[in-house]
Amino acid sequence: MNRPSGARDQERGRTHEQGRTDELGDTLDRPLRDLRVSVTDRCNFRCVYCMPREVFGTDFEFLAREQLLTFEEIHRLVGIFAGLGVEKVRITGGEPLLRRDLETLVGMLSTIDGIDDLTLTTNASLLPKKASALAAAGLDRITVSLDALDDEVFRSMTDQPVPVQRVLDGIESAALAGMTPVKVNMVVKRGANEDQIPKMAEHFRGTGHILRFIEYMDVGNTNGWRLDDVVPARAIHGAIHERWPLEPLDARYPGEVATRYRYLDGAGEIGIISSVTRPFCATCTRARLTASGELFTCLFAGSGHDLKGPLREGLSDSEIAGLIRRIWGRRTDRYSELRSEATVDRPRVEMSRIGG
Ligand code: GTP
Ligand code: 5AD
Ligand code: SF4
Ligand code: SF4
Repeated sequence: MNRPSGARDQERGRTHEQGRTDELGDTLDRPLRDLRVSVTDRCNFRCVYCMPREVFGTDFEFLAREQLLTFEEIHRLVGIFAGLGVEKVRITGGEPLLRRDLETLVGMLSTIDGIDDLTLTTNASLLPKKASALAAAGLDRITVSLDALDDEVFRSMTDQPVPVQRVLDGIESAALAGMTPVKVNMVVKRGANEDQIPKMAEHFRGTGHILRFIEYMDVGNTNGWRLDDVVPARAIHGAIHERWPLEPLDARYPGEVATRYRYLDGAGEIGIISSVTRPFCATCTRARLTASGELFTCLFAGSGHDLKGPLREGLSDSEIAGLIRRIWGRRTDRYSELRSEATVDRPRVEMSRIGG
């Protein structure tokens, strides 16, 4: 069942009236609204900025099956989070489509009251086969990671011989299945793919898909991040604006991560995500659940809070809700705002475990 978002909104209204009396706030008064759920730490790509092959090679120990939350456990936890104010759920990985029968999980999550936006971030290599089943199961939207249009550059980013065309086919299959607008995320790394900025803009202009450029971030400790490798949002904007003039758009919702712009000639919109040069911690309402059931309250945290143990020890829903309430209530995270020389060497969770 592919519910229109209107149906979800109506449901959300009802849930708000009936439940959720006391809103959760952290130490900076930020509510908990978004939950990003990683379903696997594995990926079939080895993007240089995320899972460099030197680290994530053949002998890397990924999570074993029994360490993963089951679909039933994820469904139960998401239900508890919905009761605490979460309205938006994004399924992530690693590469989430590697998790077998993912559409079954989508179907389960799509029935949870209060979740009005159910989305997924994928590298799209398996999307042509999966899009219609995911849409039928109730997935509202899809975000696809794509860092280049030229095969050679794409391959140098992903370190895997998948052709760009496969990803483009995946994007089209998501759109055909009704999961629109499709968002396309391009991480920009200096000297690696910045020449692809205008090519990507030109390709996606007028298609209805929303291209977003992401400043390369110091997530994890394995990608060898240096500030010099970051192409600042201002430069990204400039590279597009000089060919196709842009004007700013208002955020679609409070705390939106991407700064939005529209093409003056009417060819659609783009977004720029500037976590490094213009951090957005002040409005960060995101929590992240790893595939092994740990809750992280920041993308750059060194450690998480175990929820799988309490779940498997038999705690009730309200006890687990209390645990999450306490974790969120103590939250002080604002890593991107505090980023400095001193923070660069601190231990941080890897993107493939926490899901981006
Ligand atoms: P929409 O609901 O489609 O607007 O999603 P979104 O804007 O939340 O985008 P998405 O989940 O695709 O996030 C895009 C990218 O922004 C991620 O892959 C991260 O690289 C970055 N990002 C998202 N959330 C955070 C965050 O909380 N902190 C930081 N530093 N970066 C983030
Ligand atoms: N910096 C910025 N974005 C990143 N992503 C992964 N690693 C990084 C990084 N170091 C993005 C991917 C994908 C999402 C899962 O996170 O491009 O869109
Ligand atoms: Fe895989 Fe996405 Fe990380 Fe690339 S960025 S290695 S596609 S999880
Ligand atoms: Fe949120 Fe942490 Fe990202 Fe800041 S750095 S926006 S607190 S996840």
